[in-house]
Amino acid sequence: MPSGPEYHNANSPYGSGDPYYNESVGYITPAAPVKRHTSNWLRIGLPVLVVVLVGAVVGGVLGSRAANDNKTSGSSGSSGKDNVSPTGEAAASSAAAVKNAIGVFPSATDSQYLLPLYPSTTNTAAFTTPTFHPSSNAALAWPEDSFKPSNPSATNVRTDRPRLIAPAYKWQALPELIANDPYLKQWNDTIFGNATQYYSLSPVAYHMDGDSGILDNAREIKMRIKAFAYAYRMTKDTKWVDRTLAELQNAVSDSFGPSGGDKWNPTHFLDTAEFTAAFAIAYDWLYDVWTTDQKTTLRQNIITFGLSQGIAAYTNSDGQYHGWWTNNTQGNWNCVCNGGLTLGALAILGDDTTGTATQILGLTVSNAVQNCAQAVTTDGTWTETANYWYFGTTGHAEMASSLITATGSDYGLLKSTSTNKNYFELTGLFHMYATGFGSLFAYGDHGPNKFSTTANAMLLYGDYYNHPEYVLFQRDQHDAPEPWSMFWYNPTVSGAFWDNMPLDHFFDDSTDQWAAMRSSWTDQDGMYVAIKAGKQVQHQTHNDLDVGDFVLDALGTRWAGELGSGDYLSTAYFSNDTQDSARWLYYRKRTEGQNTILINKQNQLVTAAPTVKHDSSGTAQGSSTVFDVPSDSMAFWTTDMTSAYTDATSVKRGVRYLNGRKQVLLQDDITSSQPIMWRMHTNATVNVDTSGTSATLTIGDQKLTMQLLNPTSDMQISTGPATRFTDDPALPAGQSDQENPGVTVVMINVAAGTKSIQVLFNPQWPGMSSSDFKTPSAVAIDSWSLTSHN
Ligand SMILES: *[C@@H]1O[C@H](CO)[C@@H](O)[C@H](O)[C@H]1NC(C)=O
Ligand SMILES: *[C@@H]1O[C@H](CO)[C@@H](O)[C@H](O)[C@H]1NC(C)=O
Ligand SMILES: *[C@@H]1O[C@H](CO)[C@@H](O)[C@H](O)[C@H]1NC(C)=O
Ligand SMILES: *[C@@H]1O[C@H](CO)[C@@H](O)[C@H](O)[C@H]1NC(C)=O
Ligand SMILES: *[C@@H]1O[C@H](CO)[C@@H](O)[C@H](O)[C@H]1NC(C)=O
Repeated sequence: MPSGPEYHNANSPYGSGDPYYNESVGYITPAAPVKRHTSNWLRIGLPVLVVVLVGAVVGGVLGSRAANDNKTSGSSGSSGKDNVSPTGEAAASSAAAVKNAIGVFPSATDSQYLLPLYPSTTNTAAFTTPTFHPSSNAALAWPEDSFKPSNPSATNVRTDRPRLIAPAYKWQALPELIANDPYLKQWNDTIFGNATQYYSLSPVAYHMDGDSGILDNAREIKMRIKAFAYAYRMTKDTKWVDRTLAELQNAVSDSFGPSGGDKWNPTHFLDTAEFTAAFAIAYDWLYDVWTTDQKTTLRQNIITFGLSQGIAAYTNSDGQYHGWWTNNTQGNWNCVCNGGLTLGALAILGDDTTGTATQILGLTVSNAVQNCAQAVTTDGTWTETANYWYFGTTGHAEMASSLITATGSDYGLLKSTSTNKNYFELTGLFHMYATGFGSLFAYGDHGPNKFSTTANAMLLYGDYYNHPEYVLFQRDQHDAPEPWSMFWYNPTVSGAFWDNMPLDHFFDDSTDQWAAMRSSWTDQDGMYVAIKAGKQVQHQTHNDLDVGDFVLDALGTRWAGELGSGDYLSTAYFSNDTQDSARWLYYRKRTEGQNTILINKQNQLVTAAPTVKHDSSGTAQGSSTVFDVPSDSMAFWTTDMTSAYTDATSVKRGVRYLNGRKQVLLQDDITSSQPIMWRMHTNATVNVDTSGTSATLTIGDQKLTMQLLNPTSDMQISTGPATRFTDDPALPAGQSDQENPGVTVVMINVAAGTKSIQVLFNPQWPGMSSSDFKTPSAVAIDSWSLTSHN
């Protein structure tokens, strides 16, 4: 039997007598390239685990208590698994014992793509249905249980401090939670390590980055202040307060930007908002140690450089329309800007005698409910890009969490109401499926540095919407360790996110329309294909002209990838998304810079309105990380993308798995009056065979072959550089494209006419011989079905 994507199986590449095979728990080493990091747990943790599993019902770390039922009340159309364990105390206790025995399961974060590496195990006792267990620990109840006025109002705050995200009772509970949870323990250690590292650095130096403003400065300072304030509250060592103060004073000093109220760059309001959030956290979390004078100064800073600028943006009283984001539902801006202003106002409310904080809260909360809360589409997709999801969800989650802890309600930011559709519940799925083995399906712009921005909204959403799989997915990621996680993570969670998680998901909102199809959730050497259609507008001008664009991962690497953002400072880069926008002159944004079909070397039309069809065998992974793909496991997705082109009467693209998800077929059925060019960007070294109908791609010691099936005589594979065509329209004066070092474009040039371009991708799986690969028969895309290629 050939070993394909599922090759962590009994036919070990190590042969019989495999020293890494354990009868009880299966494979105990990733059958992965030697470069990979192997978790210590694999070497020393297993005997402990086996013992614990034998006598699992020992010790009651967690008692039974009704779960936080109110969390999901009011949320519509919950697709969540209702997984609060019905079996109560024994199950909770057993889960806790298993959790501690296993520890932090995957070895994460130093892998090539900063993704967790899951050890192979058939341990079906530990990695089962995602579940939150009942707990008697009041600190784990949803925060509204601790403070919920009968008639909540954004200006009626709890009387104790802190107010934001982590009230005092949560800090008090933290040491014991840390002692009983390996993830919290690791994160606490990491936060201290990070805080120590930042401690020794100079305060962040002012850097005005043109149109991107001082956003990097703001987010780096916020990241540091969170860590310093956390370290102080955990140790009561005032050296952290001193270091926080130095960072705060730097950010309002004469050498830091202009001297007026515009110090925090309200022209680019994200900057203002993130500084305001940073100061709010410092003010609130360190409230007990600031002197009266220090508090007065910090409040003045927050009001002068933050909140007053917010009021000006809302009322347009600065005459400069810095508040364009106040009625924008397409992206992260409304969430980040309202979020920062809200944290700032909540922090100083009551101490502020100017009325500014109250005024801001009267603006931001209802505005964010009307705008920020609408920034995911009906299928959970973030309207901008997979990377901008991080910024938007961080802003949204910080604002919702702070409002709940400070005032006892989220006012509809999380909960849907009849007038306010809220699809944030689904956005965790968007993130999970957009994550491939070669990192994100990162179509469009990738965005600025993240610093204080993470995917940890997954922890809050998972807890709130009762999606334990979001929590289990995120807790293993490289960006999990940071202060918010210490309070958003519900450690009663157990199980495996991959258990019963379908391999495929189709996102069908007409704004995005995309698909993710994979061979496994846990085998980093498995296959992942993601492909998109969707609209070319309404993505906050962060998209590319990229209907039909795809990525392909296999054998631990990315074979077809994205080029990412151009230079945000380029002339007219964000001008607009009309057909004549200068944005579409830049190679990375042009259709030729995507992995799709080009006709007559022209950009796609911004008016494109593709349609999609798809089907899946519905295969889901089980409890084990060792997953054998059934031979009939299948998924396909097709799009009619004719509307994206002028010189063609029909352009259809389809992608499907073959042969138990070990091979992929990408097919284009086109009728065109102009020459057709198939394009794919790769980091591989590409060798085209002499016939021009197949190519071998090499990355490291891995190979993938591409084969043109049923080619007509005009079809030829060739390669070229990832650069603009010499006959492309000129770039704006003085502008140039970014270089794409190491990237080769694989092209298939095809003459005009009615053509079917069929490209078979065969990753060269270890142990798989050429006769194990299948060659499908030719089937028109219109006739594709789950069984059409059997
Ligand atoms: C948090 O981590 C620090 C640094 O490793 C450690 O000194 C401290 O004891 C930890 N806190 C708890 C509650 O375990
Ligand atoms: C925090 O510390 C961890 C562990 O040392 C490291 O991997 C990570 O890069 C640090 N994060 C930042 C933002 O410095
Ligand atoms: C947002 O507000 C501006 C200024 O008031 C207005 O010109 C624009 O049409 C509004 N946009 C939407 C989508 O309401
Ligand atoms: C090339 O590799 C880099 C680093 O892993 C990745 O970000 C990029 O998307 C890859 N490019 C392509 C075209 O696959
Ligand atoms: C879009 O931007 C281009 C420049 O990139 C400009 O010429 C054009 O007028 C703009 N169109 C609209 C509708 O704003």
